[in-house]
Amino acid sequence: MAFSLTSLGAAEARAALPHLVGLLLDAVASGAAVGFLPPLAADEAHKYWQGVIEALEGGHRVLLVAYPAGEAILLGAVQLDLATRPNALHRAEVSKLLVHRLARRQGLARQLLQALEVEARRLGRTTLVLDTRHGDVAERLYLGMGYQLVGLIPAYFINNDGQPHATTLYYKLLGAVET
Ligand SMILES: CC(C)(COP(=O)(O)OP(=O)(O)OC[C@H]1O[C@@H](n2cnc3c(N)ncnc32)[C@H](O)[C@@H]1OP(=O)(O)O)[C@@H](O)C(=O)NCCC(=O)NCCS
Repeated sequence: MAFSLTSLGAAEARAALPHLVGLLLDAVASGAAVGFLPPLAADEAHKYWQGVIEALEGGHRVLLVAYPAGEAILLGAVQLDLATRPNALHRAEVSKLLVHRLARRQGLARQLLQALEVEARRLGRTTLVLDTRHGDVAERLYLGMGYQLVGLIPAYFINNDGQPHATTLYYKLLGAVET
């Protein structure tokens, strides 16, 4: 499947809300650790995306999404949360990398991250950080894309089994400022 990747502004994200809600519901139903516990209600997912739209309006978030070529079904998304402190304007956090189960294992997450890094560079955000559930398949993706392991924080969040679980921290320096 070929995908077309695009960056959404607030108005476009609002128009795509039903798709964005569907994508998050699918991820949580698939067992993903993305900040919510299953079962996730549609109105909670809706509220989450409303917050993302506000961040887009505030100019401190980037939202990239992926559509299968020629179709309007949104099958992937990833965000860049731009640090706003005066001493951190070169930094951003990669978050909520989501690929719908219908489109997994076709390289879409890798494509989304590559495109996000291009956008990060364009915005002067050369220090990227992220965290992911320890042991998750996403760790292979991040390691394969040059993200460096920082370490683990035990008991960081509650996993889908109701037990505390560790998160793994990663970073990637895109170049330029490395001090
Ligand atoms: C993690 C996720 C984003 C991967 O998306 P994807 O489009 O299927 O990933 P890709 O096809 O780009 O895979 C890239 C690499 O990641 C690794 N990978 C991805 N899914 C994997 C899986 N199920 N098992 C093992 N390795 C996997 C592999 O190294 C893969 O490279 P390869 O196909 O050459 O072996 C997707 O499974 C997802 O949305 N999961 C739910 C949400 C989530 O957990 N997001 C991460 C939050 S930090």
